[in-house]
Amino acid sequence: MAEKILIIGACGQIGSELTYKLRSIHGNDNVIASDINYSNLDVVNSGIFEIVDAQDYGSILLCVEKHRIDTIYLMAAMLSATGEKYPMKAWDLNMSSLFHVLNLAKAKFISKIFWPSSIAVYGPTTPKDHTPQHTIMEPSTVYGITKQVGERWCEYYFDKYDVDVRSMRYPGIISWKTMPGGGTTDYAVEIYHKAITDGHYESFLSEETELPMMFMDDAIDATIQIMNAPAEQLSIRSSYNLAAISFTPKDIAEEIQKHIQDFKITYKPDFRQDIADTWPRSIDDSVAQKDWNWTPKFDLTKMTDEMLTELGKKYATEK
Ligand code: SER
Repeated sequence: MAEKILIIGACGQIGSELTYKLRSIHGNDNVIASDINYSNLDVVNSGIFEIVDAQDYGSILLCVEKHRIDTIYLMAAMLSATGEKYPMKAWDLNMSSLFHVLNLAKAKFISKIFWPSSIAVYGPTTPKDHTPQHTIMEPSTVYGITKQVGERWCEYYFDKYDVDVRSMRYPGIISWKTMPGGGTTDYAVEIYHKAITDGHYESFLSEETELPMMFMDDAIDATIQIMNAPAEQLSIRSSYNLAAISFTPKDIAEEIQKHIQDFKITYKPDFRQDIADTWPRSIDDSVAQKDWNWTPKFDLTKMTDEMLTELGKKYATEK
């Protein structure tokens, strides 16, 4: 029987593209998209879609039994910036959804889980450059705390209950199909939109704020690769460091100016600057490279080409 996949949080930035990619690999009927509402009609109309509340065990179980799901990708989460506004909501959503999915696997309703962690697991005391896989982790955002605790629970469920849960620490993800929501790295998506629509962007991070980032295609490839890797090759059952590119708002603006000469950027750091200042500048992902042959394809130049080309087409057809 074909593997049946459920994506929870399929309307979001990463969940939506994961849905399209998994459907192209496994076939439309084998990939069930789900979310708490119908907020992304492209996803809703692209195949089987169910309303699932990630905070409600019964709601997930119902969908799992109805579609005889084997594998869950849990992509629902409250990100760093929104999490600072609603700390308890972030805690509740990020932790209860993970426990529900881990417990479904423990009870053998499903056999495999993907759960993303984040560079937000790191904090002000972490070495900032080429941050190693194993290092000091004292996150100072609610989002980071939920991801760090989540990693501990993933490893615990693997060790104690043999739950096949796989995870990686995504850097900021840049894409053109679906907007990110509520993250500190969102500027790196907004800037491309504003470059095309306004010719100007006011950055909420300062010009020298360097953060680890990745183009969506690489993030999706990494996710598929870790899920396809033979279990015995995975030496990390908390979460893998994952890296592609690091840049500052100034670097990205200069790259955009190669395409749009009169593009202007100004800087007005807000509360998200304080979050960014606690995160690494670059990540050492040598363990992911060794364990499952991870290697990214997009650098800043290639990503900027693609972002401006695709967004240019999108805005041209919307006119
Ligand atoms: N992109 C996320 C955020 O900014 C980090 O994982 O919150």
